[in-house]
This record gives sequence, C-alpha cells and structure tokens, in this order.
Amino acid sequence: MTSSEIRKKYFDFFENKKHKIISSSSLIPENDSSLLFTNSGMFPLVPYLLGESHPGGKLLANSQKCFRSEDIDEVGDGRHNTFFEMLGNWSLGDYFKKEQLNWWFEFMIEDLGLDISKIYQTVYVGDGKNISKDTESIEILKNIYLKYGIEANEGPETITKGDFGPQVEIDFSKDRIFAYRDKNWWQRGDAVGELGGPDSETFYDTGKKHDLKFGKHCHLNCDCGRFIEIGNSVFMQYQKTDNGWQELKNKNVDFGGGLERIVMVKNSFSNIFKIDSLNKIIERIEEVSGLKYENHKKSFEVISDHVKAVSFLLGDDKKLSPSNSDQGYVIRRLIRRALRYSRQININKDYFLSELSEIVIDFYKDFYQELDRNRNFVFDCLKDEESKFAKTIERGEKILNSLAEKSAKIDGYIAFDLFQSHGYPFEMTEEIINEKNIVKSENFVNEYKQEFARHQELSKTASAGKFKGGLADQSEATTKLHTAAHLLLAALRKVLGDHVSQRGSNITAERLRFDFSHSEKMTEEQKKQVEQLVNDAIAKSYDVKCQEMNLQEAKDMGASGVFDSKYGEKVKVYTVGDFSDFSEVFFSKEICGGPHVDNVSDLGVFKIQKEESSSAGVRRIKAVLLERK
Ligand code: ALA
Repeated sequence: MTSSEIRKKYFDFFENKKHKIISSSSLIPENDSSLLFTNSGMFPLVPYLLGESHPGGKLLANSQKCFRSEDIDEVGDGRHNTFFEMLGNWSLGDYFKKEQLNWWFEFMIEDLGLDISKIYQTVYVGDGKNISKDTESIEILKNIYLKYGIEANEGPETITKGDFGPQVEIDFSKDRIFAYRDKNWWQRGDAVGELGGPDSETFYDTGKKHDLKFGKHCHLNCDCGRFIEIGNSVFMQYQKTDNGWQELKNKNVDFGGGLERIVMVKNSFSNIFKIDSLNKIIERIEEVSGLKYENHKKSFEVISDHVKAVSFLLGDDKKLSPSNSDQGYVIRRLIRRALRYSRQININKDYFLSELSEIVIDFYKDFYQELDRNRNFVFDCLKDEESKFAKTIERGEKILNSLAEKSAKIDGYIAFDLFQSHGYPFEMTEEIINEKNIVKSENFVNEYKQEFARHQELSKTASAGKFKGGLADQSEATTKLHTAAHLLLAALRKVLGDHVSQRGSNITAERLRFDFSHSEKMTEEQKKQVEQLVNDAIAKSYDVKCQEMNLQEAKDMGASGVFDSKYGEKVKVYTVGDFSDFSEVFFSKEICGGPHVDNVSDLGVFKIQKEESSSAGVRRIKAVLLERK
C-alpha cells in the first residue's frame, strides 16, 4: 500500500464517521512564538481544543506536516525522521475514549489489515496525586482485543520508561496493555496555558530480535527497535495553570499517527527508509554514489531525511530561507549536515541536494501543492547554500595545506580548532591528511574526540548560567552595549591592526566608553570602516557563544582580552560568529566575564560619537546603539 493510498483510506474512514477533513497548516507556526516549527497535528488547533468553535465543526481529521528538530540525532536508526506527516483526528468536546479507541482499531485491523497479534497498547498509570490510573481505557481496550479474538492481559505497570529490570521478563503472547507514567502523558510544552492529558499509545511488533545492548529484556519503549510506536490517542482534558493541571470545559480527543511509520508496518518493512517516499531518494543516492544503502545506512538516512525535511521547510508558503538564526538556522544546519554526509559517501556532485529535492517535490506535489508553487525557491535556496558550503571547504583546505607546509605533524587539537573556528568538518580533515600523506599525531582521533567532548561540556556548563557577569548594571541596554564593545574591539583590530588591545571600558545603559592602545588619531575613513564592520556583524545576526576553558587554551584559540588570570585558572571566552555546523570564521573572540546577548541581531545601529586621546598611546571611543528606524 502506498503512502497516498493509506492517507486517503484514513480520510475516507473518518469522513464516514462524520469528520471534516481539514488541510495541513504551515510548518511555521502562526501567532505562536512558543515553538519554531509545527510539531504535531494539534498545534494549530489549540484555540479550538480550548473551547473556541471551529468552522469545520467538532469532528476533524487531517494529515499535518510536522518537523521535530530534537530528533535530528536519532536519524540513522532506521525509524526516526525529522519531518513526517501526522495523520490526526479530533473530537472537540464530542466523542471520547470509547469511540476513539474502537475506531482506531477498526481502521488498523479492518481497513489497513494490520495483524492484531502484533499490536500492543499503553495507558496512563496516574500521577500518584490527583489524576488517577486510566482503568477506563484498559477496559475498553480489553473488549476491543476480545472482539478480534485476543484475550489481552494487563502487564506489569511502572512509573519508569518501561524497563522492569533483569528480573522481569514480559510474556508478550499474553500481556498486551501496559500502564506507564511520563510516557503516557502528552503535553505540547511546559508553560502555563498549555494543554495536556493522559494518552494511549499503539506499538507494533516488527519481529526484530531484541538486542541485549539495550537491556536484558525487551519492553515496549525499548530502543532496540522491536516495537515501533505508530499512533497516540491523547485524551486532552487538562490545561496547565499556576496551580497545576485543571480540568478543561471540554473532554477532547487528539489522535496522531505517523504516516511514514504506518506505511512501514503495513508493508512489513523492517525500516522506514524502505517506504515509497523515502526509498525513491535512497535509490537516487545509490545511483549517484555507486554505493549500497545497506552498507552505508546512516549516511543514506541522514541525507534522505534532511533533503525531505528541507524541501518541505523551504517549500512552505512562508518562504523561509537559510540564515543564522531561528528557523533559518535549522534549515542551514540540515543542509550542511546532508552535504557533509554526501561527501562521506563520495558524492561531490554540484547541486546534488537540489537534484534530490526534485524527487521529493514530484512525489508530494499533488497533495502538498505548495511544494510545486515554491519549487524554484527551494532549488535556488539549496543551490546557494551548496555553493557557500563549497567555499567553506575550499577555505579549510587552504588552511590545512599551509599547515602541512609548516609543520610535520598535525594533532587532533588542530583538527578540532579547524572545526571550531573555521567550520571545517573533522572527517574532511582526516581525508586530506590521508590524501596528502601528512603526518598526524598518534592519538589524533582521541585528541579530537576529547577536545570535542570537553568543549561540549564547557558550553553546557556555561549556558546553564552558572556564572554571573561582572557588570554592576545588568539591564538589557547595558548588556547590548557590552556585546557591542566586543564587536568594536574586533573591528578596531581589523581596521587599525593587531596591535590594538583593550585598555579599559565603562558601560552604562546609555553609551559605551572604550579605551584602546593606538598612537594616532583615527581618520574619518577609519571610523566609518569600524562602524560599518560592527553594523555588518549585527546585520549578519551572529550568535554569541560562551565557553569555559583554561587561559592557555583561550590564548591558543586566538582570544583577545585581559590576560591577568593565574596559570591554569578557568576563564570564560565569548565568541561572536556563525556556529551553524560548518561555520565560516568567527567575528570576535574575547576572554570576558559577560553577560552578553545571545544574538547580536537586536543591537540596533552602532554609532561612534567621539574619538579622542585618553593618555599616551591610548585612544578613547564613545559610542551608542541607536534604534533601527
Ligand atoms: N499530539 C499527539 C502527539 O503528537 C497526538 O503524539
């Protein structure tokens, strides 16, 4: 059965049950800044689940385009996608548990012909306080199983993920219904006002052998891949308030099932990338690379998943393009990741991704017509990003070549710095080293890995906000000017030369005063250039990243700043730049206590008001940030 056949069957089924089929909303949320992307079918329906009347009535169904960037690292396990279609049906205060569970099983068994003996179900165990165990759903489910000839027992219950430890082995021929806690409570977000409720998930037994790597015994939520979740009936009846979860006026149903996964199990595929929509991309990658998917699963899955996601994100009528912040940043990251994995399987073909996106658009264009409308926009954006990436590669190669000329040996720390500061991927560094017979240190890979892990840990620590900065006044205006001071120093060094270092600064909410080493008065031209560089950096919406490291490391990374810390002492380094996977070069890197803004895009317009002498060999600049008109 094809994807479009199953989608249509689902619509027909719910139309027969008096549902109105509504169209998918945009992937980019409307009037909702709480999430970057639409991540579920209920997302656009929040006002109606809260009680507003929907023009389509109380019974709705659709297939919603969804994107979940948090799953990006899961792609490669054969069952995760960042982009997927979610089949959904809703009751806005109309039917509830009994109809929902009965209909969903009717659809699975009678319309799709799935094998009931392979289907398992979970329910909510209760929160131990106000919300009790969902025994109602258990009874309904037992009756449904009986109707299809199966006596379904309730298995052991738990408040964990479902692993009962080495002592308990589940007999899956008898136990079919399991009660969990967090795994069976669905809420879109954690803020006050969010909707939530207990849910009942459906798992399908793929027949895959349990892998002991994931624990002695298998369970429904085990990561071995034997059981795959194909649908979730949420009984959306609560809203988060300051005093915890309160009952809503309406008892709603919010059902969501991943179309790709349903297509997979219906066709008895062991893997989601075998289904029609994804397999077409996989086949083209095989053709171009001359390699087999089975031997390079991760690369093939990452490329095809990301191309599909990016085609839908760029193909949305909102016309988002790759950039350095928010949604555009995610798009850029997906593209660069796909390109890196393409190179891993020897694909260097120009505009390869835009070629693949054509397959996606052609496959989906009848149902998602916006893809066809925005076809050229998708291709143009992809081509542009592909060219930019090629330039990053070129730059990295230049640096490596010159390093090779100078030194006999390259260690993993250098490779890390190439990645960190210039966006040059480690795998490519290795390739060039091998190609050019450059000597590398004995522990090359370990050095890189250690450094990578350490930096990840450091940036996590720093971003956890453990370290408060040293500014007396931490108002937003002061913080912005503080970040502007970093941009100013970087710009001064670019215009006047590397001899420029900071001699002191004084920042209030109104202006910054900045002293620096330089003997001559700056010309008008130089001041203009400095202003221009700072404003360009602001226009590029660079991110600001904070890391903790020891002083020597900070110096080695080329950080400027006051080097009066003791040897071995930890310092914080603030870097302003583009940190998408394979970034270009950073704009500024300074040792500093913070605080700073997270992204420079809101700084406004930087203006130098005065440049004068401060003392012998030291100049002083006064500058402000003006609101952008
Ligand atoms: N909103 C529910 C989910 O995303 C159906 O799983």
